[in-house]
Amino acid sequence: MVCDLGARDDETGCYRPILVVHEWIPGRVGDGESGSLGHDRRCAHVPFPLRPTAPRRVTLPRRHSRQLIRHAAHCPHRHIVLKRLKLTALTRSFEQGDVRIDVLRGVDLTIEAGQMVCLIGASGSGKSTLLRAMNLLEPIDDGAVLLDGDDISEPGRDPTPVRRRIGMVFQSYNLFPHMTAFDNAALAPRRVKGLSKEALRPRIEALFTQFGLKGHMEHYPDQLSGGQQQRVAIVRALVMEPEIMLFDEITSALDPELVGEVLDVLRQLHATGMTMVLATHEMGFARELADHICFLDAGTILEEGPPETLFADPKEERTRAFLARVL
Ligand SMILES: Nc1ncnc2c1ncn2[C@@H]1O[C@H](COP(=O)(O)OP(=O)(O)O)[C@@H](O)[C@H]1O
Ligand SMILES: [Mg+2]
Repeated sequence: MVCDLGARDDETGCYRPILVVHEWIPGRVGDGESGSLGHDRRCAHVPFPLRPTAPRRVTLPRRHSRQLIRHAAHCPHRHIVLKRLKLTALTRSFEQGDVRIDVLRGVDLTIEAGQMVCLIGASGSGKSTLLRAMNLLEPIDDGAVLLDGDDISEPGRDPTPVRRRIGMVFQSYNLFPHMTAFDNAALAPRRVKGLSKEALRPRIEALFTQFGLKGHMEHYPDQLSGGQQQRVAIVRALVMEPEIMLFDEITSALDPELVGEVLDVLRQLHATGMTMVLATHEMGFARELADHICFLDAGTILEEGPPETLFADPKEERTRAFLARVL
């Protein structure tokens, strides 16, 4: 991974943590000169070796890049800009009889660490397909999905490690009805990571408490409301400690009075610095909290930008027509 450093702060002697990560360069991982980066009066200190490869540029060993990414995701001041997930020229089509449906028609999108990106657009515009392509649930025909610069969409690559790093929650929460909320949340890490229920209990308990589910760990799904079940589904994904979370219209199946409690969970998660991508029809929420909005139309990102621009001053006629219908 190559970073541009910000200016050195004369007062503290450290670099200001303004970094733009360009790409992983696996062949250049090596030992380096010691230094520190990501330190200022407001941010935590992130020490790691530096190896200058050009003025204000360093190559970071991968393990330190991870540390930096974690720091960036939790940095309340968002000085650090890391490109986490990058989609380039994604295409996907389906054959239905003699008809070919182009569902994604060359989508380019960059998602930075700690950002909340919202995908909006009419039903059938390709939002779910795009989200599914991000964690390799949907094969792509062309283009690439880069996770920290690493092409995870290479043919033949095992998708399992990627899906551990990128969690996903769907509209239908699909909890197992014969298992308690706790057992539902513990299932994947028990199977995938071989952890015991007891080892998982503190983490699951903390997540249940954080998301207002404290008294519900031993309840079965049919004893919980839709909003509570969806929050358990979010906890189930978070127990795997993902670095990025994808949410596909997770409030669409809920009664209106239950939508707020699930949006609150997303709000809290965003505040922790989680990198999140949401397909959503909750325009008020997107407008309030998203860092970036993408309007999808017939398999392309027709228009994108910060919410204040996209909602207040859309450039494209089709964006205007869509917003007029939903706002
Ligand atoms: N497995 C599939 N086979 C055929 N067509 C599909 C398949 N999955 C999605 N599509 C089509 O792709 C288009 C986009 O779907 P989707 O990504 O679900 O859009 P959105 O989530 O925005 O509603 C739709 O026209 C849908 O019918
Ligand atoms: Mg969808």
